[in-house]
Amino acid sequence: MNRRPLIIANWKMHFDFVEAIHLVQQIGVLLRSKSHDNVDIVVAPPFVDIRSVASVIEADRLPLAVGAQHVNALESGAYTGEVSASMLRRLMVKFVLVGHSERRTLFSMTGDIVAETAAACLRHGITPVVCVGENSDEREGGTHREFVEQQLTETLRFLEGLAGSIVVAYEPLWAIGTGKVASTGEVDEMSKLIRATLAQHQRGESHILYGGSVKTDNAAELITIADIDGFLIGGASLKAESFVEIVSQSSDCYGKKR
Ligand code: PGA
Repeated sequence: MNRRPLIIANWKMHFDFVEAIHLVQQIGVLLRSKSHDNVDIVVAPPFVDIRSVASVIEADRLPLAVGAQHVNALESGAYTGEVSASMLRRLMVKFVLVGHSERRTLFSMTGDIVAETAAACLRHGITPVVCVGENSDEREGGTHREFVEQQLTETLRFLEGLAGSIVVAYEPLWAIGTGKVASTGEVDEMSKLIRATLAQHQRGESHILYGGSVKTDNAAELITIADIDGFLIGGASLKAESFVEIVSQSSDCYGKKR
């Protein structure tokens, strides 16, 4: 495995800016005593916390990058409530989650919008973390492979010719926030499919993350899967202890595998 693991904390709609500052400081303190040298770490807070979190990271020189959970594909204009990629770029945002299943299902984000959003990120030098994953009906009906392949292909087609790398997060909907983690066999199969679907020139270097009920007691096993290069973590990222423990387990596993 030559891709250094990438661990992303998705704080979703949790924490005001004071709470966010506190959490990032706690993460910083714990990272001092835990191994993390072999991984890249990103925190994706709500928009309103980004500036404060970025300031703490900079002032305390924490080994963290800032991400965002969403962005609008358009540049600027009369789009009440929206935020653009250039605005995020000014805030030192390096990664943006694109097409998280909660955006797709709760906020009507279509495949076309996901593709346009990923392209907007690349144009602004931000790495899009394109989220894909089947729901339980697709899994039980046996169409999960075709579904995920199609979700990814429709985005990749749109990105042809654009410079920059993307990250793909495989997050089966039935595993998100449910405590029901996909088995290593299931994740292995889907991550291989995702890597094979990526364009030839992206295949070797692109990170594929797993997300869906990643916890301290399953991370070490999941990170050993050949095509899994890190995690997108919701629930377990809301507490500094569990998040840093997963970071440190991933760092140790990578150190041994190299
Ligand atoms: P979870 O969320 O870790 O709480 O399952 C993952 C995600 O939604 O990205």
